[in-house]
Amino acid sequence: MLAPFRPLRLLAAFLAGVALLPPCAVADSTPPPAARERLGFDAGWRFAFGHATDSARDFDHGTGYFSYFAKAGYADGAASPKFDDRAWRTLDLPHDWAVEAPFAAEASHSHGYKAIGRRFPERSVGWYRKIFAVPATDLGRRIALEFDGVFRDSVVWINGFYLGRNPSGSIGFRHDLTDYLNYGGDNVVVVRADATMEEGWYYEGAGIYRHVWLTKTAPLHIPRWGTFVSTEIQGADASATVRTTVANAGVQPAAFNLEQIVLDPQGREVARHTGPSQTLAPAASGEFAQTLPIAQPQLWSLETPHLYRLVTQVRTAGALVDRYETRFGIRTIRFDPDRGFFLNGAHVVLKGTNNHQDHAGVGTAVPDALLEFRIRRLKEMGSNAYRTSHEPPSPELLEVCDRLGFLVLDEHRLMGPSPEQLGQLEALIRRDRNHPSVILWSVGNEEWAIEGNELGARLTAAMRAFAERLDPTRRTTVAISGGWGAGSSTTTDVMGYNYYTHGSTDDHHARFPLQPSVGTEETTAQCTRGIYFTDSGRAHLAHEPDRIGDSGGNCIAGWKHYAARPYLAGLFFWTGFDYRGESTPFNFPANSTQFGLMDTCGFPKDSFHYLRAMWTAQPVLHLYPHWNWTGREGRPITVGAYTNHDEVELLLNGRSLGRKPVPQYDRVEWSVPYEPGTLEARGFRAGRLVGTTRVETTDAPAQLVLVPDRTVLAADGADATVFTVEARDARGRAVPTAANLVRFSVEGGRLLGVGNGDPSCLEADQFHPTLALSPIEQWRGRIAPAGTVAPSDSLPALQPLSALGDWKAPLPQADERYELAAEFTAAELPAGATLTLFLPTLGTRTSVWLNGRELLRDADTAAAGPALALVADQLVAGPNRIQMIVTPFEDWQRRRLPQLSRLGTFRVATPAPVAQRSLFNGLAQVIVQAPAAAGALHLTAEADGLAPATSTITAR
Ligand code: GAL
Repeated sequence: MLAPFRPLRLLAAFLAGVALLPPCAVADSTPPPAARERLGFDAGWRFAFGHATDSARDFDHGTGYFSYFAKAGYADGAASPKFDDRAWRTLDLPHDWAVEAPFAAEASHSHGYKAIGRRFPERSVGWYRKIFAVPATDLGRRIALEFDGVFRDSVVWINGFYLGRNPSGSIGFRHDLTDYLNYGGDNVVVVRADATMEEGWYYEGAGIYRHVWLTKTAPLHIPRWGTFVSTEIQGADASATVRTTVANAGVQPAAFNLEQIVLDPQGREVARHTGPSQTLAPAASGEFAQTLPIAQPQLWSLETPHLYRLVTQVRTAGALVDRYETRFGIRTIRFDPDRGFFLNGAHVVLKGTNNHQDHAGVGTAVPDALLEFRIRRLKEMGSNAYRTSHEPPSPELLEVCDRLGFLVLDEHRLMGPSPEQLGQLEALIRRDRNHPSVILWSVGNEEWAIEGNELGARLTAAMRAFAERLDPTRRTTVAISGGWGAGSSTTTDVMGYNYYTHGSTDDHHARFPLQPSVGTEETTAQCTRGIYFTDSGRAHLAHEPDRIGDSGGNCIAGWKHYAARPYLAGLFFWTGFDYRGESTPFNFPANSTQFGLMDTCGFPKDSFHYLRAMWTAQPVLHLYPHWNWTGREGRPITVGAYTNHDEVELLLNGRSLGRKPVPQYDRVEWSVPYEPGTLEARGFRAGRLVGTTRVETTDAPAQLVLVPDRTVLAADGADATVFTVEARDARGRAVPTAANLVRFSVEGGRLLGVGNGDPSCLEADQFHPTLALSPIEQWRGRIAPAGTVAPSDSLPALQPLSALGDWKAPLPQADERYELAAEFTAAELPAGATLTLFLPTLGTRTSVWLNGRELLRDADTAAAGPALALVADQLVAGPNRIQMIVTPFEDWQRRRLPQLSRLGTFRVATPAPVAQRSLFNGLAQVIVQAPAAAGALHLTAEADGLAPATSTITAR
């Protein structure tokens, strides 16, 4: 008879979830630091896929007899602090696992056919774990984790304690960790995100796709988003009213003074105010208002986006307890029913675009620097406004808009009056109301079930009142696609027209003359960058300026409508950038929309130049199409110019094809039989030649060229830039039809992703090693007699560990050991794979055999279990046997021992494939992240038959 398996019984009891570990709350005589800290928490996460429908493949999470909803601290599976995640991938945030996925025809159309969602339960749940130290000196502070955005339905645990669930994929959330932390030791935060269910009908990414922050404050502190600055301009002077929330999370009443200091855009102190002494009871919070005069304010405007800084200090008996900074701008905004929008009293036409959040190559995990890149591209087009369709943007987007002078229509996700829905609207407004760039809240978009009926009217009125209470300085709108004159449109502050073709804006304005209005969406006419003949098979849509787009109208017709009507405050074209998903009118393999004025990379389409001509004061003379039409010799090609000149003359190979006046808000076109050579457009103003643009037939591609958007990056491991990849002919002319496959390598930085703007391209966006993780299950074991150094040969002689649960007996006698054994099947091993066997920490010393061969002899495993590199010929086809002899811990009760069911993982890591992308109509894009240390960053591009290119930029 076998010796009873006593210690494992205790082990099992321990592992069932009872938190035997005493929290090491180390009291320390060092006083905690006084003021707040806000620490980036993006680095060093572990990630693995769980499973949406199979809990065994979801790391057995939530399967415990008592799990985390039953008992505090009973998080199980991967949510347990004891879980061994060493085999998981390490990554830094932001992270979007959807963009990493392959395409699949059966995947979601609206999300761009990336293989996640309902049909892919194995790729729809992502687990993130991070171990972080909290110093003993933090005891007594309030410590919180702030997530800016997780897609979606996320659950968070700290040290095995459930903190909460956040269904929204876009608005962030916060968890106070204070009471749960292990001060002076390690802590484990775990996030499970479930992207099975979509919110939008467009690509939304998956995972922790925005930043995470760890904040530390005193118990008496200003909570998140705890200041609200509103300004008033009186003549040449202004005043700022600051409403500050202060919370006392301590157990004693707290007395304090609030001190407000205003710094001007040059950093000089221009106002200071100390409020009277206040007292807050324990667990109480209060809002306190103070008004500060600001003489001769430097106004925030589109041309001079001056930003002031408010420093709010909480002092107790003179000592600084909290210090909170708020950026704000001084400006006035007004929507007038007859004359549109006014900024600082001056009329500004809203020349806007709608945009979703994703960018080529990175999906929704957009580095901050890329947000700025996108806003700069829109500014180049002459745009001044951005609608965050259809959800709250990342906080950094608004910071960019504040800094660059760009207006924002800030949108809430889902209309509704429930605490959850209003809670999300409240979070949006509290988070964003200090941004001068934000000029209007949108509480809904095309809510077809209600927008034209009484329910829509009621909800709009309720949400408008709710928004106004939180922010009396801005108005609200709803983007309405029908039922104008009824429903939502009757109770919204500012009427939002989604597509002027859905009704008559003139009639509506006549019926509601006191209601201001704006075009919240307007068609651009869909087309593919650089395509002039439609090819439905490849989902390529020709640039046809007069095409009626899916929602009616087109760019020219839209602008004509708005430019002619002063009562309309302007419009937001659908969209500035192409986005993944909603590839209407095409299905797979089409995976991106084509509504953009730019493609998914931000490469301009022709209509971009139409708007540049209409929206900027610079001289614009843009000629389309390109002039590489081999095979179409003698056949007519439509040649046109988008310009803000009065007249344009077109010449082909020096011969004039006529001079034409440019109709207002329109373009000029000619039908030209193709012959290779040079097209030349000459632009005239008042009869004078003012500009010339040429388009030439090029030779075949001969060389690659890389053009970085920025040549100096911050060496912070987070900054990023885009490189444009072009093919040029031997004479250095960009070849507009080039389609070469280009391979990339980066030194001194990290390649984040690639794109080319082709809406039906199925090439990979990112290049990561693949990790296949096989949990090692079905262990058997016994207590081996003292002195055992080799395993028994017979697996059946051992007991299944699962049967040991109710054994009652003491620990092994001195020198007794555990003998454990299990089998796993190695699937076919890909070439170049790295094989690793991760085994648990079960005792102080461990020996390991694989298929009877010794891998590890009596190694010290007190700190970490073995991680053994294997080579393929150590494995056999079929079952592979692992055996272990372990010397148990004497203090095993204090150890984070793993679950009995999974004592290890066999990992097969396949190296990342070569990064590559085909040029699409001559262009591709590479997004590269800066290193964390100063140095040179080199990107090299190579393609068969072309001279390669290397571009070197600096990180410092
Ligand atoms: C609108 C909608 C947008 C987008 C667009 C495409 O109805 O608000 O999100 O779907 O149509 O035409």
